[in-house]
Amino acid sequence: MQKTMERPPSPLTIGHRSSQCRARTAELATRHGVIQTPVFMPVGTQATVKAITPENLQEIGAQIILGNTYHLFVRPGHRLIERCGGLHRFMNWDRAILTDSGGFQIFSLKKLSRITEEGAAFRSHLDGSRLFLSPEDAIEVQEALGSDIMMCLDTCIPYPADRTETSGATALTGRWAWRCREARTKHDHLLFGIVQGGMYPDLRRESARTMIDIGFDGYAVGGLSVGEEKEQMYDMTEVTADCLPDDYPRYLMGVGTPEDLVEGVWRGIDMFDCVMPTRNARNGTLFTSTGRVVLKNSRYRDDQLPIDESCDCYTCRNYSRAYLRHLFVSREILSYQLNTIHNIHYYINLMRQIREAIAGDCLASFRNDFYSGLAAE
Ligand code: GUN
Ligand code: ZN
Repeated sequence: MQKTMERPPSPLTIGHRSSQCRARTAELATRHGVIQTPVFMPVGTQATVKAITPENLQEIGAQIILGNTYHLFVRPGHRLIERCGGLHRFMNWDRAILTDSGGFQIFSLKKLSRITEEGAAFRSHLDGSRLFLSPEDAIEVQEALGSDIMMCLDTCIPYPADRTETSGATALTGRWAWRCREARTKHDHLLFGIVQGGMYPDLRRESARTMIDIGFDGYAVGGLSVGEEKEQMYDMTEVTADCLPDDYPRYLMGVGTPEDLVEGVWRGIDMFDCVMPTRNARNGTLFTSTGRVVLKNSRYRDDQLPIDESCDCYTCRNYSRAYLRHLFVSREILSYQLNTIHNIHYYINLMRQIREAIAGDCLASFRNDFYSGLAAE
């Protein structure tokens, strides 16, 4: 029997719709404030955005960050965080937090995990102990953390995967989504469904239909940026976004490069997260309006200019490329902090410019200028 539930009211209030493409500006209401979208969410896997403080994040203008159910469940445990007053209090962050459900992280463990109808059995990446996460557990953990936006437990599909495997995993994600929706007890914490379907447009549409029938506060596009070509990623994003209700938030998970954000917004995506700005910062690769700066490159040894002359982040206001290169090659701890501040600032500022371009109905020219800027170097 097909269950149907009432659609929850959308937490999204649309501001301006582009006349040029699927992009829109909107406000997303959460328990920890209203978020201007399109938005980029820095990744704070282990209750910290690596190398920077919550004060740094606030000064940069981050509106929402992402936490990981899997990592926090394994260590230090959601009950401990709950006793410490919830994740916001635990990490001293009073703006919004979205928590990923753990599906993707467990999937990344590959040989250490086994998926059954009931849930995901896996071994801790820390000590090898046996753990289990059902869809119900994923919701219980996220509620205990005090997440503002919870994600359903989903199954991730490897790339490439044949149609039979993709179809089976996508159907299981649908059954788990029903269970997540039923397990939820706190209705002021938003819950998003995740569309899978691999690289098969019809399976994407079917998965989107299932999620819409269940009725979530928002919808994510999962299973992308897993090794497919860029064009295929953009096509799947478009196919999926086009099936999702226009008045609800759409979140493209784990994506991506600055170019991917522009292309995602163009296709109607409102939310993004990715480790790229933080991970690249720690590897000494910095994003600028004219392309990437690789600090270990000797051409920056004597360079007195800031990383990006058009950037007004703390790092660019105070330090030269020569100094940042020195810190990086000397493996100084400060290198991680200064680089991360700049890269997160670059992503957050890019999203602010994108919102302004949508509001001014000039995203097409913004997109052209953005690509010419990157090609200039
Ligand atoms: N992060 C990046 N991709 C995914 C996905 O498909 N599912 C989940 N849960 N998280 C992701
Ligand atoms: Zn900067």
